[in-house]
Amino acid sequence: MTIELEDSIPVAYRLQFPIRQNTYLCNGELKTWQGDLQAVQSPVTIASQSDAQTETASLTIGYYPLLTETEATEVLDAACQAYNCGRGIWPRMSVEERIKCIEVFTYKIKEAKQEVVALLMWEIGKTFADAEKEFDRTIDYIDATIDALKDLDRISSRFVIEQQVIGQIRRSPLGVVLCMGPFNYPLNETFTTLIPALIMGNAVIFKPPKLGVLLHHPLLEAFRSAFPPGVVNTVYGDGSEVIGPLMASGKVDVLAFIGSSRVADILKHQHPKPHRLRCVLGLEAKNVAIVLPDADLEHSVNECLLGALSYNGQRCTALKLLFVHEAIRETFLQRLTEKVDKLILGAPWDKEAQITPLPEPGKIDYLNELLEDAKKGGATIINQKGGQVSFNAMHPAVVFPVNAHMRLYTEEQFGPIVPVAEFSDISEPMNYITQSNYGQQVSLFGEDPDTLATLIDPLVNQVSRVNINSQCQRGPDSFPFTGRKDSAEGTLSVSDALRAFSIRSLVAAKENPTNRKLIKRIVLERKSQFLSTDFIL
Ligand code: G3H
Repeated sequence: MTIELEDSIPVAYRLQFPIRQNTYLCNGELKTWQGDLQAVQSPVTIASQSDAQTETASLTIGYYPLLTETEATEVLDAACQAYNCGRGIWPRMSVEERIKCIEVFTYKIKEAKQEVVALLMWEIGKTFADAEKEFDRTIDYIDATIDALKDLDRISSRFVIEQQVIGQIRRSPLGVVLCMGPFNYPLNETFTTLIPALIMGNAVIFKPPKLGVLLHHPLLEAFRSAFPPGVVNTVYGDGSEVIGPLMASGKVDVLAFIGSSRVADILKHQHPKPHRLRCVLGLEAKNVAIVLPDADLEHSVNECLLGALSYNGQRCTALKLLFVHEAIRETFLQRLTEKVDKLILGAPWDKEAQITPLPEPGKIDYLNELLEDAKKGGATIINQKGGQVSFNAMHPAVVFPVNAHMRLYTEEQFGPIVPVAEFSDISEPMNYITQSNYGQQVSLFGEDPDTLATLIDPLVNQVSRVNINSQCQRGPDSFPFTGRKDSAEGTLSVSDALRAFSIRSLVAAKENPTNRKLIKRIVLERKSQFLSTDFIL
């Protein structure tokens, strides 16, 4: 059950609701917004008991500003001014000084951990363990980014002499970056673009996802105080109202967006000079598991369960279709359905909860549509509890046999449904992957090295990561995270992200006595941040 009796909510997570966020960060100031606010409903249904009667209600946990084009333009101007065509304080600051600002920021946000974690639970229904993991992983990501930048800078702190030309090559910022993260990792995936963009010297505007706004509220003061004015700014509200004008202005140099390809395409097309816009996009996926006849069944079932259903299947990397070989299909499904039926539905703070309420409005109706469509095509929900709904939560449904005539075959369900297809010939799942619009990852389950090797080689040219006897996932964050086809544009990892938000620039001079003397003087007298041999220790 996902009804939570008021009294059973742990004290640590009972925040002072509603949180009235009526400010936005612009030009180093938390400006007060007097206009309309958007109410935020928690997906967790709360029950209260009075006179032996139980009443249930969805809780309004807060409000955030519904800004207009005017404030969006004001924020854009602040970012442009902070960057000032590369002449701003931030883009010209030394790497060491920028790192110091990020360190101050990190120190400050660590103090907000408990509140952010609680808001992740209330706002998007993430379990305590996953919410805490998201926060800690974000801090680790920032620390790793700082280390990676130090390494990069050390390599650049030297001159190269080639064909009688002296050069110094470094990475420089790109300009104004618009960062938009997804609702399922509203903190982590926003920060995995925002932090590298910032640390490389860009000015940033960030718009939190529609679901997952309030959790950024405790961090705004840290953003305000750790960076020079205009370097970080926020916008809130309806995308067409506040993002459209930003893109149409042509002043956004980089779009870092994690969400649907439909929205990404709209945003890209709004920019008047698409060739000037650099895009870093994380989009949809329909990752497949292929369970071969010799797979270790217990292990495969466990990995598929985790891969398909952690955070209710709301991960871009989730396994969204399982292809199981006919020889083991029956046993595999028997074990899988048993385990799926044992999953516990609960509120995010329930220690035992594995399935929690879904935050997207209308999501249960959408999932039911997919289930109905599959049933019409001849599939069944094969686990007893599959599809049972309790307020905003749905018990995961294992659906079999799924085929090309059903929406579940190609559509990204992004929720607690596990579609299963049977195959007899490996060409069936291989053709599926080749014809899919998506190309993020695949999981192969099997034990024969020859068979696996013959699958790995073609698959690495179809997707961006082949997982062996392991679920699909983004981490470790030092590994490249990307996708082919409609699944991504650009690559993110701790070190790749630094590259994505910068460009190589160099200073070069023909080697002659005058230039040698000039360069020496600039370096020895520390006249330039770029032309410098300073080494970060
Ligand atoms: O939603 C997409 C995330 O990047 C997936 O990350 O595999 O660590 O859950 P994860």
